[in-house]
Amino acid sequence: MTGAKTTADVQLTVGEQYLALETVQATAGNHGIVMAPLNAQTGMVALDPGFLNTAACTSKVTFIDGEAGVLRYRGYPIEQLAGESTFLEVAMLLIRGELPTRHELEAFEARIDKHMYLSDDFRQIFSVMPRRAHPMATLGAAVNMMAGFYPESLDPLDPAAINLATALLLAKMPTIISYIYRRAQGNALLYPQHGQSYIENFARMTFQLPGERFEVPEVFYRALDTLLILHADHEQNCSTSAVRMIGSARANLYMSVSGGVSALSGPLHGGANEAVLEMLSYIRDSGITPLDFMTRVKDKAGGLKLMGFGHRVYKSYDPRAAIVKQHADAVLEALGVRDELLDIAYEVEQVALSDDYFIERRLYPNVDFYTGIIYRAMGFPASMFTPLFALGRLPGWIAQWREMVADPSGKIGRPRQVYVGPGLRDYVPLAVRDPR
Ligand code: CMC
Repeated sequence: MTGAKTTADVQLTVGEQYLALETVQATAGNHGIVMAPLNAQTGMVALDPGFLNTAACTSKVTFIDGEAGVLRYRGYPIEQLAGESTFLEVAMLLIRGELPTRHELEAFEARIDKHMYLSDDFRQIFSVMPRRAHPMATLGAAVNMMAGFYPESLDPLDPAAINLATALLLAKMPTIISYIYRRAQGNALLYPQHGQSYIENFARMTFQLPGERFEVPEVFYRALDTLLILHADHEQNCSTSAVRMIGSARANLYMSVSGGVSALSGPLHGGANEAVLEMLSYIRDSGITPLDFMTRVKDKAGGLKLMGFGHRVYKSYDPRAAIVKQHADAVLEALGVRDELLDIAYEVEQVALSDDYFIERRLYPNVDFYTGIIYRAMGFPASMFTPLFALGRLPGWIAQWREMVADPSGKIGRPRQVYVGPGLRDYVPLAVRDPR
Protein backbone atom coordinates (compact mmCIF):
# COMPACT_ATOMS: atom_id res chain seq x y z
CA MET A 1 0.00 0.00 0.00
CA THR A 2 1.46 3.38 -0.99
CA GLY A 3 0.56 6.85 0.29
CA ALA A 4 1.68 8.81 3.35
CA LYS A 5 0.30 7.33 6.56
CA THR A 6 -0.51 9.51 9.54
CA THR A 7 -0.63 8.12 13.03
CA ALA A 8 -3.93 7.47 14.71
CA ASP A 9 -5.99 10.54 13.89
CA VAL A 10 -9.35 8.77 13.71
CA GLN A 11 -10.99 7.37 16.80
CA LEU A 12 -13.64 4.69 16.74
CA THR A 13 -15.60 3.65 19.80
CA VAL A 14 -17.11 0.15 19.73
CA GLY A 15 -19.03 -0.51 22.94
CA GLU A 16 -16.45 -0.20 25.68
CA GLN A 17 -13.58 -0.40 23.24
CA TYR A 18 -11.69 2.56 21.90
CA LEU A 19 -9.81 2.16 18.65
CA ALA A 20 -7.29 4.63 17.21
CA LEU A 21 -7.07 4.27 13.42
CA GLU A 22 -4.38 5.53 11.07
CA THR A 23 -5.24 7.35 7.86
CA VAL A 24 -3.62 7.35 4.42
CA GLN A 25 -3.39 10.79 2.83
CA ALA A 26 -4.49 10.99 -0.80
CA THR A 27 -2.64 13.32 -3.20
CA ALA A 28 -6.12 14.26 -4.47
CA GLY A 29 -9.60 13.15 -3.49
CA ASN A 30 -10.71 11.12 -0.49
CA HIS A 31 -8.25 10.27 2.27
CA GLY A 32 -8.51 6.73 3.65
CA ILE A 33 -9.04 5.31 7.13
CA VAL A 34 -6.96 2.16 7.63
CA MET A 35 -9.48 -0.41 8.85
CA ALA A 36 -6.98 -3.26 9.25
CA PRO A 37 -7.14 -3.46 13.10
CA LEU A 38 -10.94 -3.43 13.19
CA ASN A 39 -11.62 -7.16 13.15
CA ALA A 40 -8.61 -8.19 15.21
CA GLN A 41 -9.34 -5.68 17.96
CA THR A 42 -13.13 -5.55 18.04
CA GLY A 43 -14.27 -8.80 16.42
CA MET A 44 -16.46 -6.72 14.11
CA VAL A 45 -16.25 -6.17 10.36
CA ALA A 46 -17.11 -3.20 8.13
CA LEU A 47 -20.31 -3.85 6.18
CA ASP A 48 -20.38 -1.87 2.93
CA PRO A 49 -22.42 -3.52 0.15
CA GLY A 50 -21.48 -2.21 -3.28
CA PHE A 51 -18.31 -0.68 -1.75
CA LEU A 52 -19.88 2.77 -1.53
CA ASN A 53 -17.35 3.74 1.17
CA THR A 54 -14.61 1.19 0.80
CA ALA A 55 -11.28 1.74 -0.97
CA ALA A 56 -9.86 -1.65 -1.91
CA CYS A 57 -6.39 -0.27 -2.62
CA THR A 58 -4.24 2.79 -3.03
CA SER A 59 -3.51 3.56 -6.67
CA LYS A 60 -1.41 5.96 -8.76
CA VAL A 61 -3.11 5.26 -12.07
CA THR A 62 -6.31 7.28 -12.43
CA PHE A 63 -7.99 10.09 -10.53
CA ILE A 64 -11.69 10.94 -10.70
CA ASP A 65 -13.40 13.85 -8.98
CA GLY A 66 -17.03 12.88 -9.36
CA GLU A 67 -18.37 16.16 -8.01
CA ALA A 68 -16.38 18.29 -10.41
CA GLY A 69 -16.54 15.94 -13.41
CA VAL A 70 -12.76 15.47 -13.52
CA LEU A 71 -10.90 12.47 -14.97
CA ARG A 72 -7.10 12.23 -15.16
CA TYR A 73 -4.81 9.39 -16.23
CA ARG A 74 -1.51 9.55 -14.30
CA GLY A 75 -2.25 13.22 -13.65
CA TYR A 76 -3.06 14.21 -17.24
CA PRO A 77 -6.59 15.58 -17.92
CA ILE A 78 -8.71 13.35 -20.14
CA GLU A 79 -9.58 16.34 -22.35
CA GLN A 80 -5.90 16.85 -23.26
CA LEU A 81 -5.23 13.17 -23.86
CA ALA A 82 -8.38 12.72 -25.95
CA GLY A 83 -7.53 15.80 -27.98
CA GLU A 84 -3.83 15.28 -28.55
CA SER A 85 -2.61 11.77 -27.72
CA THR A 86 -3.10 8.36 -29.32
CA PHE A 87 -4.50 5.17 -27.83
CA LEU A 88 -1.17 3.33 -27.76
CA GLU A 89 0.60 6.33 -26.20
CA VAL A 90 -2.13 6.47 -23.53
CA ALA A 91 -1.75 2.72 -23.01
CA MET A 92 1.97 3.24 -22.35
CA LEU A 93 1.22 6.12 -20.01
CA LEU A 94 -1.25 4.07 -17.99
CA ILE A 95 0.94 0.98 -17.84
CA ARG A 96 4.33 2.64 -17.21
CA GLY A 97 3.26 5.76 -15.37
CA GLU A 98 5.00 8.27 -17.66
CA LEU A 99 4.61 9.45 -21.25
CA PRO A 100 7.09 7.73 -23.59
CA THR A 101 9.80 9.38 -25.65
CA ARG A 102 9.32 9.20 -29.44
CA HIS A 103 11.82 6.33 -29.62
CA GLU A 104 10.05 4.39 -26.82
CA LEU A 105 6.65 4.88 -28.42
CA GLU A 106 7.88 3.74 -31.84
CA ALA A 107 9.51 0.66 -30.32
CA PHE A 108 6.29 -0.16 -28.46
CA GLU A 109 4.16 0.33 -31.59
CA ALA A 110 6.55 -1.95 -33.51
CA ARG A 111 6.28 -4.61 -30.80
CA ILE A 112 2.48 -4.46 -30.91
CA ASP A 113 2.52 -4.53 -34.73
CA LYS A 114 4.68 -7.68 -34.65
CA HIS A 115 2.23 -9.55 -32.39
CA MET A 116 -1.15 -8.74 -34.00
CA TYR A 117 -1.13 -11.99 -35.92
CA LEU A 118 -3.11 -14.96 -34.56
CA SER A 119 -1.97 -18.48 -35.40
CA ASP A 120 -4.19 -20.78 -37.44
CA ASP A 121 -4.75 -22.92 -34.35
CA PHE A 122 -6.02 -19.90 -32.46
CA ARG A 123 -8.24 -18.89 -35.40
CA GLN A 124 -9.98 -22.26 -35.10
CA ILE A 125 -11.63 -21.20 -31.86
CA PHE A 126 -13.80 -18.68 -33.71
CA SER A 127 -15.27 -21.36 -35.92
CA VAL A 128 -16.39 -23.51 -32.98
CA MET A 129 -18.44 -20.69 -31.46
CA PRO A 130 -21.99 -20.41 -32.83
CA ARG A 131 -22.38 -17.42 -35.17
CA ARG A 132 -25.15 -16.06 -32.98
CA ALA A 133 -23.01 -16.15 -29.80
CA HIS A 134 -22.82 -12.78 -28.12
CA PRO A 135 -19.42 -11.23 -28.97
CA MET A 136 -18.63 -10.71 -25.29
CA ALA A 137 -18.99 -14.45 -24.64
CA THR A 138 -16.53 -15.23 -27.41
CA LEU A 139 -14.20 -12.42 -26.36
CA GLY A 140 -14.01 -13.62 -22.76
CA ALA A 141 -13.33 -17.17 -23.94
CA ALA A 142 -10.68 -16.07 -26.44
CA VAL A 143 -8.81 -13.95 -23.88
CA ASN A 144 -8.91 -16.85 -21.43
CA MET A 145 -7.57 -19.20 -24.10
CA MET A 146 -4.56 -16.98 -24.64
CA ALA A 147 -3.27 -18.44 -21.36
CA GLY A 148 -3.16 -21.82 -23.11
CA PHE A 149 -1.48 -20.49 -26.24
CA TYR A 150 1.28 -18.40 -24.62
CA PRO A 151 2.55 -20.36 -21.58
CA GLU A 152 5.85 -18.45 -21.56
CA SER A 153 4.00 -15.28 -20.53
CA LEU A 154 2.01 -16.55 -17.55
CA ASP A 155 4.19 -16.04 -14.46
CA PRO A 156 2.74 -13.05 -12.58
CA LEU A 157 5.99 -12.62 -10.66
CA ASP A 158 8.27 -12.45 -13.72
CA PRO A 159 8.55 -8.91 -15.17
CA ALA A 160 9.59 -10.21 -18.63
CA ALA A 161 6.57 -12.54 -18.73
CA ILE A 162 4.28 -9.70 -17.64
CA ASN A 163 5.68 -7.42 -20.37
CA LEU A 164 5.15 -10.14 -22.96
CA ALA A 165 1.57 -10.82 -21.81
CA THR A 166 0.93 -7.05 -21.89
CA ALA A 167 2.14 -6.78 -25.49
CA LEU A 168 0.33 -9.93 -26.61
CA LEU A 169 -2.98 -8.82 -25.13
CA LEU A 170 -2.81 -5.31 -26.57
CA ALA A 171 -1.70 -6.63 -29.96
CA LYS A 172 -4.12 -9.53 -30.35
CA MET A 173 -7.27 -8.01 -28.87
CA PRO A 174 -8.15 -5.97 -32.02
CA THR A 175 -7.55 -9.04 -34.19
CA ILE A 176 -9.73 -11.17 -31.90
CA ILE A 177 -12.56 -8.61 -31.91
CA SER A 178 -12.44 -8.21 -35.68
CA TYR A 179 -12.57 -12.01 -36.08
CA ILE A 180 -15.60 -12.26 -33.77
CA TYR A 181 -17.37 -9.76 -36.02
CA ARG A 182 -16.35 -11.42 -39.27
CA ARG A 183 -17.35 -14.83 -38.01
CA ALA A 184 -20.83 -13.48 -37.14
CA GLN A 185 -21.05 -11.99 -40.64
CA GLY A 186 -19.89 -15.21 -42.28
CA ASN A 187 -16.85 -13.52 -43.83
CA ALA A 188 -13.33 -14.94 -44.08
CA LEU A 189 -10.85 -13.83 -41.43
CA LEU A 190 -8.21 -11.39 -42.66
CA TYR A 191 -4.60 -11.06 -41.54
CA PRO A 192 -3.09 -7.97 -39.94
CA GLN A 193 -0.72 -6.04 -42.20
CA HIS A 194 2.63 -4.86 -40.92
CA GLY A 195 3.07 -1.14 -41.24
CA GLN A 196 -0.59 -0.29 -40.89
CA SER A 197 -1.48 1.56 -37.71
CA TYR A 198 -3.20 -0.22 -34.84
CA ILE A 199 -6.55 1.42 -35.59
CA GLU A 200 -6.27 1.01 -39.38
CA ASN A 201 -5.46 -2.67 -39.03
CA PHE A 202 -8.41 -3.19 -36.71
CA ALA A 203 -10.86 -1.31 -38.95
CA ARG A 204 -9.67 -3.04 -42.12
CA MET A 205 -9.65 -6.53 -40.60
CA THR A 206 -13.19 -5.84 -39.36
CA PHE A 207 -14.85 -4.24 -42.36
CA GLN A 208 -12.97 -4.99 -45.59
CA LEU A 209 -15.17 -7.01 -47.94
CA PRO A 210 -13.75 -9.63 -50.33
CA GLY A 211 -12.50 -8.03 -53.51
CA GLU A 212 -13.17 -4.50 -52.36
CA ARG A 213 -10.80 -1.71 -51.43
CA PHE A 214 -11.15 -0.50 -47.87
CA GLU A 215 -11.21 3.25 -47.58
CA VAL A 216 -12.64 5.26 -44.72
CA PRO A 217 -12.19 8.96 -43.99
CA GLU A 218 -9.51 10.03 -41.53
CA VAL A 219 -12.25 11.18 -39.14
CA PHE A 220 -13.20 7.50 -38.67
CA TYR A 221 -9.74 6.57 -37.36
CA ARG A 222 -9.44 9.65 -35.22
CA ALA A 223 -12.88 9.15 -33.64
CA LEU A 224 -12.20 5.49 -32.91
CA ASP A 225 -8.83 6.32 -31.38
CA THR A 226 -10.47 9.00 -29.22
CA LEU A 227 -13.23 6.67 -28.03
CA LEU A 228 -10.64 4.07 -27.02
CA ILE A 229 -8.70 6.72 -25.09
CA LEU A 230 -11.87 7.81 -23.27
CA HIS A 231 -12.48 4.23 -22.11
CA ALA A 232 -8.86 3.39 -21.29
CA ASP A 233 -9.18 3.47 -17.50
CA HIS A 234 -11.65 4.47 -14.83
CA GLU A 235 -10.02 3.54 -11.52
CA GLN A 236 -11.72 0.88 -9.38
CA ASN A 237 -14.85 0.23 -11.47
CA CYS A 238 -16.60 -3.15 -11.44
CA SER A 239 -14.56 -4.87 -14.18
CA THR A 240 -11.23 -3.46 -12.98
CA SER A 241 -12.01 -4.57 -9.46
CA ALA A 242 -12.78 -8.03 -10.89
CA VAL A 243 -9.42 -8.06 -12.70
CA ARG A 244 -7.60 -7.06 -9.50
CA MET A 245 -9.52 -9.57 -7.40
CA ILE A 246 -8.75 -12.47 -9.74
CA GLY A 247 -5.13 -11.36 -10.06
CA SER A 248 -4.78 -11.13 -6.28
CA ALA A 249 -4.92 -14.94 -6.26
CA ARG A 250 -1.85 -14.79 -8.56
CA ALA A 251 -3.96 -15.84 -11.54
CA ASN A 252 -2.23 -14.90 -14.78
CA LEU A 253 -2.96 -11.67 -16.67
CA TYR A 254 -5.09 -13.32 -19.37
CA MET A 255 -7.41 -15.08 -16.96
CA SER A 256 -7.70 -11.93 -14.87
CA VAL A 257 -8.57 -9.82 -17.92
CA SER A 258 -11.05 -12.44 -19.06
CA GLY A 259 -12.84 -11.91 -15.74
CA GLY A 260 -12.88 -8.19 -16.50
CA VAL A 261 -14.51 -8.91 -19.86
CA SER A 262 -17.23 -10.88 -18.08
CA ALA A 263 -17.93 -8.07 -15.61
CA LEU A 264 -17.95 -5.49 -18.38
CA SER A 265 -20.65 -7.38 -20.29
CA GLY A 266 -23.28 -6.44 -17.69
CA PRO A 267 -25.83 -3.80 -18.75
CA LEU A 268 -25.15 -1.70 -15.64
CA HIS A 269 -21.48 -1.48 -16.72
CA GLY A 270 -20.05 -1.74 -20.26
CA GLY A 271 -23.14 -3.42 -21.63
CA ALA A 272 -24.96 -0.10 -21.16
CA ASN A 273 -23.76 1.21 -24.56
CA GLU A 274 -25.62 -1.59 -26.33
CA ALA A 275 -28.62 -1.11 -24.02
CA VAL A 276 -28.75 2.63 -24.85
CA LEU A 277 -29.14 1.90 -28.53
CA GLU A 278 -31.84 -0.67 -27.82
CA MET A 279 -33.62 1.92 -25.67
CA LEU A 280 -33.44 4.67 -28.30
CA SER A 281 -34.59 2.23 -30.99
CA TYR A 282 -37.48 1.18 -28.76
CA ILE A 283 -38.58 4.81 -28.32
CA ARG A 284 -38.43 5.33 -32.10
CA ASP A 285 -40.17 2.07 -33.07
CA SER A 286 -42.88 2.07 -30.43
CA GLY A 287 -43.87 5.61 -31.33
CA ILE A 288 -43.92 6.83 -27.72
CA THR A 289 -42.38 10.20 -26.95
CA PRO A 290 -39.17 10.52 -24.91
CA LEU A 291 -41.32 12.24 -22.28
CA ASP A 292 -43.62 9.20 -22.01
CA PHE A 293 -40.62 6.92 -21.77
CA MET A 294 -39.15 9.02 -18.97
CA THR A 295 -42.43 8.80 -17.07
CA ARG A 296 -42.13 5.02 -17.15
CA VAL A 297 -38.53 5.24 -15.97
CA LYS A 298 -39.56 7.44 -13.05
CA ASP A 299 -42.37 5.00 -12.16
CA LYS A 300 -39.61 2.37 -11.93
CA ALA A 301 -41.96 -0.03 -13.68
CA GLY A 302 -40.21 -3.39 -14.06
CA GLY A 303 -36.95 -1.82 -12.83
CA LEU A 304 -36.74 0.26 -16.02
CA LYS A 305 -33.74 2.61 -16.06
CA LEU A 306 -32.63 5.34 -18.37
CA MET A 307 -29.63 3.55 -19.84
CA GLY A 308 -26.52 5.69 -20.30
CA PHE A 309 -27.51 7.87 -17.35
CA GLY A 310 -26.16 7.91 -13.82
CA HIS A 311 -22.84 6.92 -12.35
CA ARG A 312 -21.60 5.71 -9.01
CA VAL A 313 -18.86 8.35 -8.89
CA TYR A 314 -19.85 11.19 -11.24
CA LYS A 315 -22.46 13.40 -9.65
CA SER A 316 -22.16 16.00 -12.39
CA TYR A 317 -21.67 15.58 -16.16
CA ASP A 318 -19.36 12.66 -17.02
CA PRO A 319 -16.41 14.41 -18.74
CA ARG A 320 -16.12 11.52 -21.18
CA ALA A 321 -19.76 11.95 -22.19
CA ALA A 322 -19.12 15.63 -22.86
CA ILE A 323 -16.26 14.75 -25.25
CA VAL A 324 -18.25 12.01 -27.01
CA LYS A 325 -21.20 14.34 -27.46
CA GLN A 326 -18.94 16.93 -29.09
CA HIS A 327 -17.74 14.28 -31.53
CA ALA A 328 -21.12 12.74 -32.33
CA ASP A 329 -22.40 15.44 -34.66
CA ALA A 330 -19.05 15.94 -36.40
CA VAL A 331 -18.46 12.24 -36.96
CA LEU A 332 -21.93 11.60 -38.33
CA GLU A 333 -21.60 14.53 -40.69
CA ALA A 334 -18.13 13.50 -41.88
CA LEU A 335 -19.28 9.92 -42.43
CA GLY A 336 -22.36 11.20 -44.24
CA VAL A 337 -24.72 9.50 -41.81
CA ARG A 338 -28.03 10.91 -40.69
CA ASP A 339 -29.34 9.12 -37.58
CA GLU A 340 -32.68 9.94 -36.02
CA LEU A 341 -31.56 8.09 -32.88
CA LEU A 342 -29.17 10.98 -32.24
CA ASP A 343 -32.12 13.39 -32.29
CA ILE A 344 -34.01 11.16 -29.86
CA ALA A 345 -30.91 11.01 -27.63
CA TYR A 346 -30.68 14.83 -27.58
CA GLU A 347 -34.36 15.03 -26.69
CA VAL A 348 -34.09 12.42 -23.93
CA GLU A 349 -31.09 14.27 -22.49
CA GLN A 350 -32.93 17.61 -22.53
CA VAL A 351 -35.95 16.10 -20.75
CA ALA A 352 -33.75 14.42 -18.14
CA LEU A 353 -31.62 17.49 -17.42
CA SER A 354 -34.70 19.55 -16.59
CA ASP A 355 -36.62 16.86 -14.69
CA ASP A 356 -36.69 16.86 -10.88
CA TYR A 357 -36.29 13.06 -10.64
CA PHE A 358 -32.95 13.20 -12.43
CA ILE A 359 -31.85 16.52 -10.92
CA GLU A 360 -32.47 15.36 -7.33
CA ARG A 361 -30.60 12.11 -7.90
CA ARG A 362 -27.86 13.90 -9.82
CA LEU A 363 -28.20 11.66 -12.86
CA TYR A 364 -26.34 12.90 -15.94
CA PRO A 365 -25.38 11.21 -19.22
CA ASN A 366 -22.45 8.84 -18.79
CA VAL A 367 -19.89 7.78 -21.40
CA ASP A 368 -22.21 5.12 -22.81
CA PHE A 369 -25.01 7.51 -23.75
CA TYR A 370 -23.59 8.76 -27.06
CA THR A 371 -20.87 6.23 -27.91
CA GLY A 372 -23.28 3.73 -29.47
CA ILE A 373 -24.50 6.31 -31.95
CA ILE A 374 -20.95 6.94 -33.17
CA TYR A 375 -20.13 3.24 -33.34
CA ARG A 376 -23.33 2.66 -35.28
CA ALA A 377 -22.42 5.41 -37.74
CA MET A 378 -19.07 3.67 -38.23
CA GLY A 379 -20.89 0.48 -39.18
CA PHE A 380 -20.61 -1.56 -35.97
CA PRO A 381 -23.72 -3.51 -34.95
CA ALA A 382 -24.92 -2.91 -31.37
CA SER A 383 -23.59 -6.27 -30.17
CA MET A 384 -20.04 -5.06 -30.96
CA PHE A 385 -20.23 -1.92 -28.78
CA THR A 386 -19.22 -3.61 -25.55
CA PRO A 387 -16.25 -5.45 -27.15
CA LEU A 388 -15.10 -2.00 -28.33
CA PHE A 389 -15.38 -0.77 -24.74
CA ALA A 390 -13.27 -3.80 -23.71
CA LEU A 391 -10.62 -2.94 -26.30
CA GLY A 392 -10.47 0.56 -24.87
CA ARG A 393 -10.43 -0.58 -21.23
CA LEU A 394 -7.66 -3.12 -21.78
CA PRO A 395 -4.72 -0.80 -20.90
CA GLY A 396 -6.47 0.16 -17.67
CA TRP A 397 -7.05 -3.45 -16.67
CA ILE A 398 -3.41 -4.23 -17.41
CA ALA A 399 -2.08 -1.16 -15.58
CA GLN A 400 -4.20 -1.84 -12.49
CA TRP A 401 -3.32 -5.55 -12.47
CA ARG A 402 0.38 -4.72 -12.72
CA GLU A 403 0.13 -2.16 -9.95
CA MET A 404 -1.58 -4.75 -7.74
CA VAL A 405 0.96 -7.49 -8.48
CA ALA A 406 3.88 -5.12 -7.81
CA ASP A 407 2.51 -4.01 -4.44
CA PRO A 408 4.63 -5.79 -1.78
CA SER A 409 1.87 -5.35 0.79
CA GLY A 410 -0.71 -6.89 -1.56
CA LYS A 411 -2.91 -9.64 -0.19
CA ILE A 412 -5.35 -12.02 -1.81
CA GLY A 413 -8.77 -10.34 -2.07
CA ARG A 414 -11.02 -12.00 0.43
CA PRO A 415 -13.97 -9.94 1.72
CA ARG A 416 -15.63 -10.82 5.03
CA GLN A 417 -19.37 -11.14 5.52
CA VAL A 418 -22.00 -10.58 8.16
CA TYR A 419 -23.75 -13.93 8.38
CA VAL A 420 -27.52 -13.64 8.79
CA GLY A 421 -28.53 -17.25 7.97
CA PRO A 422 -29.91 -19.94 10.30
CA GLY A 423 -28.19 -20.76 13.57
CA LEU A 424 -26.79 -24.22 14.32
CA ARG A 425 -29.29 -27.00 13.58
CA ASP A 426 -29.05 -30.77 13.23
CA TYR A 427 -29.29 -32.55 9.89
CA VAL A 428 -32.40 -34.70 9.58
CA PRO A 429 -32.03 -37.55 7.04
CA LEU A 430 -34.37 -37.51 4.01
CA ALA A 431 -36.11 -40.72 5.12
CA VAL A 432 -37.04 -39.03 8.41
CA ARG A 433 -37.77 -35.58 6.92
CA ASP A 434 -40.01 -36.87 4.18
CA PRO A 435 -40.96 -40.54 4.67
CA ARG A 436 -42.57 -42.25 1.65
N1 CMC B 1 -32.34 5.71 -14.60
C1 CMC B 1 -33.26 5.92 -13.64
N2 CMC B 1 -32.99 5.99 -12.32
C2 CMC B 1 -31.71 5.82 -11.96
C3 CMC B 1 -30.69 5.60 -12.90
C4 CMC B 1 -31.04 5.55 -14.26
N3 CMC B 1 -30.11 5.34 -15.20
N4 CMC B 1 -29.52 5.47 -12.25
C5 CMC B 1 -29.79 5.60 -10.96
N5 CMC B 1 -31.12 5.82 -10.78
C6 CMC B 1 -31.82 6.06 -9.51
C7 CMC B 1 -31.96 4.77 -8.69
O1 CMC B 1 -33.15 4.09 -9.00
C8 CMC B 1 -31.96 5.33 -7.28
O2 CMC B 1 -33.22 5.89 -7.04
P1 CMC B 1 -33.85 5.88 -5.53
O3 CMC B 1 -32.96 6.80 -4.74
O4 CMC B 1 -35.24 6.38 -5.72
O5 CMC B 1 -33.80 4.46 -5.07
C9 CMC B 1 -30.95 6.48 -7.36
O6 CMC B 1 -31.00 6.94 -8.73
C10 CMC B 1 -29.52 6.10 -7.00
O7 CMC B 1 -29.14 5.05 -7.88
P2 CMC B 1 -28.21 3.83 -7.47
O8 CMC B 1 -28.66 2.64 -8.23
O9 CMC B 1 -28.14 3.73 -5.97
O10 CMC B 1 -26.82 4.34 -8.01
P3 CMC B 1 -25.53 3.43 -8.18
O11 CMC B 1 -24.37 4.31 -7.95
O12 CMC B 1 -25.63 2.19 -7.37
O13 CMC B 1 -25.60 2.96 -9.73
C11 CMC B 1 -25.35 2.95 -12.07
C12 CMC B 1 -24.85 3.54 -10.73
C13 CMC B 1 -24.42 3.40 -13.18
C14 CMC B 1 -25.28 1.42 -11.98
C15 CMC B 1 -26.79 3.41 -12.33
O14 CMC B 1 -26.84 4.83 -12.40
C16 CMC B 1 -27.39 2.78 -13.56
O15 CMC B 1 -27.91 1.67 -13.49
N6 CMC B 1 -27.32 3.48 -14.76
C17 CMC B 1 -27.83 2.90 -15.99
C18 CMC B 1 -26.80 1.93 -16.57
C19 CMC B 1 -25.61 2.66 -17.17
O16 CMC B 1 -25.75 3.60 -17.92
N7 CMC B 1 -24.40 2.15 -16.84
C20 CMC B 1 -23.15 2.69 -17.37
C21 CMC B 1 -22.32 3.34 -16.31
S1 CMC B 1 -20.95 4.32 -16.98
C22 CMC B 1 -19.94 3.22 -17.83
C23 CMC B 1 -19.50 2.03 -17.05
O17 CMC B 1 -19.13 2.13 -15.89
O18 CMC B 1 -19.50 0.95 -17.62
